[in-house]
Amino acid sequence: MIIPGKVGEPHLTGQVFRTAHIAVLPVYVIVLIYGCRRLVACMHAEAICYNGDGQPDMDIRTAIHRRISVRHYQARTVPDNLLQAVIAAGEDSLALDNGIAVRFHLVKEGQLIARRMTVLTGTKLLFGSAPHFIVATSEEKPFFMLNMGFRMEQLILFATQQGLGTCWIGGMFREARIAEFLGLPERERVIVLTPIGYPDTSLMGKAARDIIEVGARNFGRRKPLWEIAFGERWGAPLPADDAGLLEALECARRAPSWANTQPWRFLVSPEGIIAMAELRQRYLNIRAGKHYRRLDVGIAMAHFFLAAREMGWRGGWSVTGFDPAAIAQHYAVPEDHEVLSIYRRR
Ligand SMILES: Cc1cc2nc3c(=O)[nH]c(=O)nc-3n(C[C@H](O)[C@H](O)[C@H](O)COP(=O)(O)O)c2cc1C
Repeated sequence: MIIPGKVGEPHLTGQVFRTAHIAVLPVYVIVLIYGCRRLVACMHAEAICYNGDGQPDMDIRTAIHRRISVRHYQARTVPDNLLQAVIAAGEDSLALDNGIAVRFHLVKEGQLIARRMTVLTGTKLLFGSAPHFIVATSEEKPFFMLNMGFRMEQLILFATQQGLGTCWIGGMFREARIAEFLGLPERERVIVLTPIGYPDTSLMGKAARDIIEVGARNFGRRKPLWEIAFGERWGAPLPADDAGLLEALECARRAPSWANTQPWRFLVSPEGIIAMAELRQRYLNIRAGKHYRRLDVGIAMAHFFLAAREMGWRGGWSVTGFDPAAIAQHYAVPEDHEVLSIYRRR
């Protein structure tokens, strides 16, 4: 069919219309999937929650529930003393192993890092808006990834308590580029970055946040507690009468993880709470010797530890002094899981 126009003007045929519609079909599909997932996320209030203007007295459990990954920022910069306080929170954070040197590098001019990230992510749409960045580096020693998850999350939660936005970034950059920019010695590995600034809570800011979450598992939602934490044996139900324990585990459940894979598992045994990593191949995620699943478990352990401490527990996580293989055998831990640490309650 020919659609009539003036002589000399290009004519659009029905065929052209059809072709144009087919060409934009993937866009329709993406918009539809995004719309549906956002709707579902809104129905699950836990998924999307921007922290407010910062409440100096915000307790740690509130911060754990409020923290989300922020991928778009307001243009205003963060006062210098506040940035220094965030860095101090990282430097003073408790370690799983004090023998592992860790550093938190503040890069005040965010663009200097954004430009060194992968092309797509360093653009305006994602992290290009971040006024500042923090780069977390570590020595490569046993437990260094678990330790980094544990320490960096203390910094992230402190920033959340101040009303600042952050986002763990493990991909989207080449280690050598960032290391060269910071002038790091070879033994100092770049593990993660986070932008830091005031979250852009506009519709645009929320859409930027969602870009990654659409591709991540469960769109920011978490696995139920019964799937990740067990009683005395693998798969056994948790003791229902210990409210404090359940609350600390609930805080662990809320932890962020790479692509929201939530690889942590907990088992409440007579010798303590055993933390494990799920190692199924699909999302194993080891990059240049950096085992990001262990790092994710370190984050969940930080949530557990901080929540328990706030409730008055005086226990702590140990990474040595036990035989992981014997523990795994005794509690029937499946082969594709790794025993990493034990929390002893005091
Ligand atoms: C170790 C680690 C690495 C991550 N890497 C990236 C990343 O490279 N880019 C990104 O946009 N988000 C990254 N994230 C954020 C996760 O996608 C996010 O935490 C997860 O989907 C849960 O969403 P939430 O943080 O809003 O609760 C990372 C998170 C962790 C813990």
